[in-house]
Amino acid sequence: MATNRTFTMIKPDAVKAGHIGAILNDINAAGFRIVSLELKQLTRRQAEQFYAVHSERGFFGELVDFMSSGPIVAAILEKENAVADFRTLIGATNPANAAPGTLRAKYAKSMGENAVHGSDSDENAKIESDFHFATSVQF
Ligand code: RTP
Ligand code: MG
Repeated sequence: MATNRTFTMIKPDAVKAGHIGAILNDINAAGFRIVSLELKQLTRRQAEQFYAVHSERGFFGELVDFMSSGPIVAAILEKENAVADFRTLIGATNPANAAPGTLRAKYAKSMGENAVHGSDSDENAKIESDFHFATSVQF
């Protein structure tokens, strides 16, 4: 099952801009099923933990400030080949390089405020899902 799931967040910039509905619609239209969903705000500590892999990077402070600056939508998504297909759907980290039609091309403002997170491996999808959710629905 884990190989068919990924974890996503709609980041504070896209929530503030009113894009929750449009992004969830695009996610569904691309064939992903939502199996957990929550609107929540991360504490600084939670944002630090979530992005701990980047703790030595110059942008870490900015990333933590941004990710705890307002509400996010956390979700677990299910689909065949979910991790790779979702990374394709969201597009490149820098929206200037994101392919047309991708979520970051459509909704992201900048490299730092890039609208959507997607897990980068099956292993991280499981870790990140467990970080946010105790349960998910079964279809
Ligand atoms: P994410 O984890 O949020 O899905 O993004 P990603 O895999 O495409 O990019 P990653 O390398 O994991 O970086 C995490 C987030 O840190 C911010 N970032 N800023 N200013 C910079 O050079 C820089 N580099 C990365 C972005 O918000 C990126 O999504
Ligand atoms: Mg990443």
